[in-house]
This record gives sequence, structure tokens and C-alpha cells, in this order.
Amino acid sequence: MRKIAILLIASFILAFIALDSGVYNMAATEKHWAVTEKIIAWMRDNSIEARAKDLQVPSLNNEQIRLKGAEHYNAMCTACHLAPGLKPTELSLGLYPQAPKFFERTPSKDPNEKLERARAYFWVIKNGLKMTAMPAWGLSHDDDSIWAMAAFVLELNAMTPEQYRQIVQTAQDNSHDHTHQDHGHE
Ligand code: HEC
Repeated sequence: MRKIAILLIASFILAFIALDSGVYNMAATEKHWAVTEKIIAWMRDNSIEARAKDLQVPSLNNEQIRLKGAEHYNAMCTACHLAPGLKPTELSLGLYPQAPKFFERTPSKDPNEKLERARAYFWVIKNGLKMTAMPAWGLSHDDDSIWAMAAFVLELNAMTPEQYRQIVQTAQDNSHDHTHQDHGHE
């Protein structure tokens, strides 16, 4: 028993000396070990699932929501997550961990899995992810906008560059029309 206590204390002291010396390289260019990456991914996925599982997914099958999601995504997310037809950016290249490319994911056909993904996306977009550069958009956006973005991220799976260009164009034209209408009322 005493031996174990001494061993434990000794290893804490050694760990402290090592970390205090600055030997750990915090550079984003210095990758984790494969096993560390697996542990982080496991922790992250469980953490998201536990917090997202009871979220009520609103009805997202609506053209206005699609366009809102497309416009927000194009304006705020592509620098890191890219989009179909966009080249890597200076920002996206330097990230560690890398921001996933949603359009390279296989779309799910299972409605339950889709709902699960939508909840997880919503939760991450709203709350961000520690130590990854993924910001918490819930500080500046309401839940409706975040659901629209989560739905659009789902829709991005397997989207072609042409489809992406078109939906963003429609979304932008649409919001310009609204601005013109608003001016008309003044
Ligand atoms: C500054 C870079 C950056 C910006 C801007 C950014 N993200 Fe992220 N995002 C990341 C990184 C990096 C990760 C990966 C974190 C990880 O590996 O755990 C991530 C993760 C995510 C995830 C979870 C990914 C998964 O595997 O399911 C979602 C969803 C997401 N981002 C959506 C968005 C949306 C929507 C926007 C725009 C509103 C956005 N992000 C803007 C960097 C960014």
C-alpha cells in the first residue's frame, strides 16, 4: 500500500517536472499519437451524444429554412469547412484538428440516423468544441438559425459544386429581394 502511494506521488512529481520544463510541444503542426486522437474522438462523440440526445428537432423541410442555412453556411463556415467546388483556404490548411468536409460524408438513408446527426450538428454549432477552433455560434445566433445551419450541413453530404453554387445564389437573391421589399415599406 505504502509502495503504491510513493510510486503515485513520484509519478505526479515527474509529470509535473516534465510539463513544467515545456517539453510538451503545443504546436498545431505536431500531431497527436494515433491512440490519443482515438481517445479524444471517443470522448468528444460521447460528450456530444449525451448532450444532444434529448433535443427536439423542429420541422426543417421548408424552402426558407434551406435558403437561410445555405446563406449562413456560405458566409460563416466555408473558410474552415470548405464547400463543394471550393479550394482549401489558408485558414483551413492550418487547422489542427482539421475541420471536417461535410460534402465528403456519405448521406444517411436512415431517418433516425439523420435526426441523430441533426441533433449533434445543432449542439456543436451552438456550443462549439473546446481546443479545436470550432466557435460557439449560439452566442450570436438564435436556435432557428442554428437548426437551419444544422439542416444544411446534413444536406451538404454528397452535394455537387453546381448544386451548391445554385442554392447559395438563390439564397442571396432571395435575401436581396427581402431587403428591397423592406426599403419599399419605408
Ligand atoms: C475557425 C474555423 C471554423 C469555423 C469558422 C467553423 N468551424 Fe466547425 N469545426 C471546426 C473544426 C476544427 C472542427 C473539428 C473539431 C474536431 O475535430 O473535433 C469543427 C467541427 C464542426 C462540427 C462537428 C463536426 C462533426 O464531425 O460532426 C460541425 C457540425 C461544425 N463544425 C459546423 C460548423 C458550422 C455550421 C460553421 C459555420 C456557422 C462552422 N462549423 C464554422 C472549425 C471551424
